Amino acid sequence: AGQPDLGDNPLDGPLDRVRVDDTGRMLTTNQAVRVADNQNSLKAGLRGPTLMEDFILREKITHFDHERIPERVVHARGSAAHGYFESYGDQSAITRAALFSATGKRTPVFVRFSTVAGERGSADTVRDVRGFAVKFYTEDGNWDLVGNNIPVFFIQEAMKFPDLIHAVKPEPHHGMPQASSAHDTFWDFASLSPEIVHMLLWHTSDRAIPRSYRMMQGFGVHTFRLVNAHGTSVFCKFHWSPMAGTHALVWDEAVRLVAADPDYHRRDLWEAIDSGQFPQWELGLQVFSEAQAARFPFDILDPTKLVPEALVPLRTVGKLVLNRNPDNFFAETEQVAFCAAHVVPGIDFTNDPLLQGRLHSYVDTQISRLGGANFHEIPINSPVAPIHNNQRDGMHRQQINRGRVNYEPNSLAGGCPFQAGVRGFVSVPEASHGNEVRGKPELFADHYSQARLFWISQTTVEQDHIVQAFRFELTRVQTPAVRKRVLAALVNVDNGLAARVAASLGMDVPDPLPPATSRPPYQYPPSPPLSLFHR
Ligand code: HEM
Repeated sequence: AGQPDLGDNPLDGPLDRVRVDDTGRMLTTNQAVRVADNQNSLKAGLRGPTLMEDFILREKITHFDHERIPERVVHARGSAAHGYFESYGDQSAITRAALFSATGKRTPVFVRFSTVAGERGSADTVRDVRGFAVKFYTEDGNWDLVGNNIPVFFIQEAMKFPDLIHAVKPEPHHGMPQASSAHDTFWDFASLSPEIVHMLLWHTSDRAIPRSYRMMQGFGVHTFRLVNAHGTSVFCKFHWSPMAGTHALVWDEAVRLVAADPDYHRRDLWEAIDSGQFPQWELGLQVFSEAQAARFPFDILDPTKLVPEALVPLRTVGKLVLNRNPDNFFAETEQVAFCAAHVVPGIDFTNDPLLQGRLHSYVDTQISRLGGANFHEIPINSPVAPIHNNQRDGMHRQQINRGRVNYEPNSLAGGCPFQAGVRGFVSVPEASHGNEVRGKPELFADHYSQARLFWISQTTVEQDHIVQAFRFELTRVQTPAVRKRVLAALVNVDNGLAARVAASLGMDVPDPLPPATSRPPYQYPPSPPLSLFHR
């Protein structure tokens, strides 16, 4: 038990410099003045008024008064751990990302798991998507793979994200319900957003009540690009597969645990690592070319679609091992700042419009959540690679930049720091065409084919759980028209599913929604349903 020695983990140096053990030390103020009496304030006579002069009392109370920072606007409830990623081979043919450059190469990581909707003190085992965010401290800078445990998302457009979250969070007038999608505003939004239906099936499935963080998959969700040293790029989807297998709670267990042990997942992760049962995942890549993507019956820029493994099998490239608990929840788990825009040379974005919005959102929110523009200097966020640039000043600046030159180009400092050219991050050159326009490609409008594929890939027991989850959620919806619209969306997925949910609610099956596209739902090549995704 206890914290293992990570030996040559390059993250240890920077973190060790700020790790403090106060045990057995003499109490001091923040100015390192030893405190004689920590129980009594300074008074004018034993029964007299407390004196303004008591800087020790004032410092202690002032610091306490400012202990809280805003919680994350989403994913507020989370748990994290340190570990490493080990590459199974040399992937330089497809990516120049340093962490994939050699067999056995280890890169330190910090991983945070989370629920999405609940507040910081909410329960772990509620029905919700789980965040799976990995910060890789590579020699070429930090790469954050900020994923979820479900491979698709609710919406296709960053423009809709604030509305989605407003609808799912507690209702603004009375602040209820806590950490649950089972209320009118969420289902109202859902029933008016047909692109959500694929995600709704995952969300009502057992995937949304994982047994443990150690036993859930993770997905990058969006299509990304990998780029090699010659600038050649391929598309890529990222998958984490737990070596302990993917397992869920059953609903009754999940509900009881909310009351009996709201920290169930947090405790499970902590105790597993503390007892040396290190959680492990393998990283799989689905790699495909632009030519392949052009033949798929869906758009790879649409985050409500996955790439079935029948079309592109997984290539396993390494494993993730979590082997050290944080020393301090606030300093590490709370202050860690992931960002979908943090990529390194060898990894690049696509035009997925949801991803494009995320590139802006994370650092923007962290400027207010973590107090200013220098939160990259907080030890848990600092890269192990050195930082050299002309950015200066701002609240809480730690780095002491030397010299008179903080601009480029310059001649007074020999031109340094200088831009790296091809040794630095180079965006994949991509032809763009068309007029400025708000809208979506037509293939984005097939909302039902993959939802149906997911439904028929489920076992009988899993299908029963989906029907029961719809029943539970929709019986808590007060507005009949909202329930009816959800049922209409389910008719478009599968008549049998819609009929079963309608019967469970004592309602009639409504007419299907009009199709949003002129194209008929597409057919996949015949394949066993399980090859839709890896279990
Ligand atoms: C956290 C925005 C979509 C995964 C966050 C945070 C914001 C945000 C503002 C809080 C960050 C912080 O305070 O540090 C958005 C926007 C999205 C979007 C605007 C769409 C336009 C997604 C998607 C995924 C995702 C599609 C999964 C692929 C996460 C995770 C966290 C998070 C895992 C928690 C990170 C942590 O543990 O600190 N998101 N998000 N988000 N988001 Fe998103």
